[in-house]
Amino acid sequence: MTSWFVPAAAGFGLLTALVSGAAAETLVERGDYLVNTVMACGNCHTPIGPGGPDMERALSGGLTFDEPPFTVTASNITPDEATGIGAWSDADIKTALVGGIRPDGTPLAPVMPYAFYKVLSPRDLDAIVAYLRSLPAVENQVPTPDYRQIIVAKPFPGADEPIPEAARAGNIETEGFYLTTIAHCMECHTRWTDGHPDPVAGLGAGGREFPGPWGVAVAANITPDPEAGIGAWSDEEIKRAIAEGVRPDGTPLKPPMGYPYYHGMTDADLTAVVAYLRTIPTRQ
Ligand code: HEC
Ligand code: HEC
Repeated sequence: MTSWFVPAAAGFGLLTALVSGAAAETLVERGDYLVNTVMACGNCHTPIGPGGPDMERALSGGLTFDEPPFTVTASNITPDEATGIGAWSDADIKTALVGGIRPDGTPLAPVMPYAFYKVLSPRDLDAIVAYLRSLPAVENQVPTPDYRQIIVAKPFPGADEPIPEAARAGNIETEGFYLTTIAHCMECHTRWTDGHPDPVAGLGAGGREFPGPWGVAVAANITPDPEAGIGAWSDEEIKRAIAEGVRPDGTPLKPPMGYPYYHGMTDADLTAVVAYLRTIPTRQ
């Protein structure tokens, strides 16, 4: 039987131990959590086999994006020296993540959501690098990118500098903004105007189309508008949509909504995302 009736001094010690235990999550564990849940790197970087994502070769190169300005394939980000990023320094990896630049100076196509990653705290960047280095090296040469036009993405509004842990602690809306940004939710859920995402007037308004084997999925309006958006949904209903891919009426969400990844998010993190979504302006 567990007893919570311990003498006050010992009880205090226990609490301190629990708190520091949580903070003692290793960098690799934090990186694993970020890469495989919130940030869903595998949604692009893991190859898709006949039965879905090929987890034996996780993060060894994935989807090809064939757009008018470029044809690029999500890179092999395992530590294989020849075909992955094993020969890159920690600083090289961070520059690619937050600056969108490879060690040889070539800008990455903005499909790689680096515009959303400048907000990453130094600790979380360290964690992502530590985790990527802990992966098994997988040999997989992805096709060379073809750039017909160089496009450099500006940071997402509010994401132009790191938001450290201290600025987020105890501030659920800031934590929610941070998580929603690194999860690049608004990359898909922002309305486009004249061929460009409009992250101010179109923030959360939805409308972007994603064709695929599932037909065409249209990114939903996730602003608090009670009719066009999700304002009438309860917190639990919104969390279920994000983490289970099921709407309040029971209908399933189609890919590429990343719920198979968000499924592993902690309840506290999902709560923070919902708290932030309730603060954005309503759009119809
Ligand atoms: C929406 C899809 C998408 C997501 C999500 C994504 N990436 Fe990428 N990433 C790409 C694409 C596409 C490229 C290649 C771009 C190019 O060739 O110009 C790339 C390139 C990279 C590179 C450069 C590697 C090289 O060899 O050039 C790194 C490092 C990287 N991604 C890491 C990550 C990490 C870590 C995450 C998650 C935190 C992530 N990416 C999330 C699509 C994505
Ligand atoms: C890669 C693109 C993409 C990303 C990233 C993405 N979503 Fe989605 N999301 C979609 C699409 C597409 C739909 C609609 C799916 C459908 O209609 O079946 C959707 C649906 C939803 C819904 C259901 C709303 C409704 O009215 O049906 C919610 C809530 C949602 N997303 C929240 C989020 C949050 C929060 C994040 C970040 C943690 C996120 N999404 C990241 C593409 C994305």
